[in-house]
Amino acid sequence: MNIKNSIARYTGVAIALHWLIALLIISLLIVGKFMTSLDEADPLRFSLTQWHKSFGITILLLTLARIIWRLSHKPPALPEQVRGWQKAASSVTHVLLYCLMLALPISGWIMVSTSPLNLSTILYDVIPLPHLPVLASLANKAQISDLFHEIHHISSGVMIALLLLHIGAALMHQFVHRDFVMERMAPHWKSQQTKAGLGLIAGCIGAVLLGLFLIEAIQKHEKANSEVISKIGQNQAQSKSVSSQVKFKLILMGEEVEGSFSGSSVVLNKASDNLSGPSLSAKVKTASANTSNPQINDSLPGPDWFDVVQHPEATFVSTEIDITSEASWLMTGDLTIRETTKPVNFTLNLDQNNKIATGAFTINRLDYAIGAVEQADDSTAGFNVVIEFDFPIE
Ligand code: HEM
Ligand code: HEM
Repeated sequence: MNIKNSIARYTGVAIALHWLIALLIISLLIVGKFMTSLDEADPLRFSLTQWHKSFGITILLLTLARIIWRLSHKPPALPEQVRGWQKAASSVTHVLLYCLMLALPISGWIMVSTSPLNLSTILYDVIPLPHLPVLASLANKAQISDLFHEIHHISSGVMIALLLLHIGAALMHQFVHRDFVMERMAPHWKSQQTKAGLGLIAGCIGAVLLGLFLIEAIQKHEKANSEVISKIGQNQAQSKSVSSQVKFKLILMGEEVEGSFSGSSVVLNKASDNLSGPSLSAKVKTASANTSNPQINDSLPGPDWFDVVQHPEATFVSTEIDITSEASWLMTGDLTIRETTKPVNFTLNLDQNNKIATGAFTINRLDYAIGAVEQADDSTAGFNVVIEFDFPIE
């Protein structure tokens, strides 16, 4: 007798729902873990979360249909050789799996309904998902959202562990006990051609859906990226360039000499909505250097000093700003003179009353090869040059 013909199987509907839900849940577990590994500001995380919610609610509906079907259709008997404790373990695992198939989407729905961000969810970009009633208007909804975020996270971990057990048991029945437990849940097709045809169609539909999903995610990612770039551009355009006063001091023949640059400008971007954080950049026209000593003034533009023809500008660009208080920012940045770039640190003091920002730092002129030939030692011109500056703030 052909055993396969006598096998009692799950109904076609139960089998279809089992594999469809299995595919969706495994995908959502992978996508969920991936999206939460992304940076919170990453637009891809936002777009994947929207898709995650759409498929998650679909799973909830399919699971409800599956439970109704299961309650009205008795499952086929297990093979006789399956022992009592195995039957009990399998029943417990199945009940727990059903619980998690409900707990995951419901906890997700509660989480987004109580989120203080109050984002609306449009399933598949078409159907609005309402927030769960009552919960959304609770005063302590932020704590509830956190709690269900944790429940969602823990449930996904328990689901992964149970699935490993469930799949392991199914494979053990198939390859170790070689009984027909797997056959009862396996898709069943009459002929090889139908099997191949249906497999091909299912594969194509899967590939198209996956392709659509990826294209949509990439498009949203690019769109959001271009919005981010244009927003940064707007912020930079909004921050006005202001002219600043830049002074320098060094010891010349034992005496302190002071000079200044008349041509210098600063762009301070302190907007809190600037996505790349605050920034400061400054430019100084090297030819605008001036001191009270005409002899020094003659030397400064020359090739051994500022070499103004080759290097008309000296620049500073911040790389890190530590806002210690509203009035005092610790700045780190790159100072470029004569095409040599070195890091410098200083404190920028922002006097909001007088609307003025001030700062100072010291450089070693030899670091930038200033006077490196004519004044290679510090007997005439000291190595240290103090740079002081101020500029108006808004
Ligand atoms: C997210 C993935 C999956 C979920 C949520 C899931 C869930 C379930 C549930 C709840 C049942 C019980 C059906 C019932 O009697 O009402 C079941 C049965 C079954 N599942 Fe899965 N399953 C998943 C994936 C898989 C995979 C990947 C395999 C195979 C490698 C598999 C093989 C089976 C088999 C053979 C049965 C019948 C077991 C029996 O009647 O004792 N499942 N599954
Ligand atoms: C069976 C269905 C679902 C599965 C398997 C699932 C799985 C997951 C997983 C694995 C994560 C990552 C959790 C972590 O490790 O922290 C996650 C996150 C998330 N899920 Fe689900 N989920 C499902 C349904 C839903 C539903 C229906 C919603 C909302 C309507 C939802 C909303 C979310 C949100 C908003 C996050 C991201 C939380 C964050 O940004 O930290 N999920 N989900």
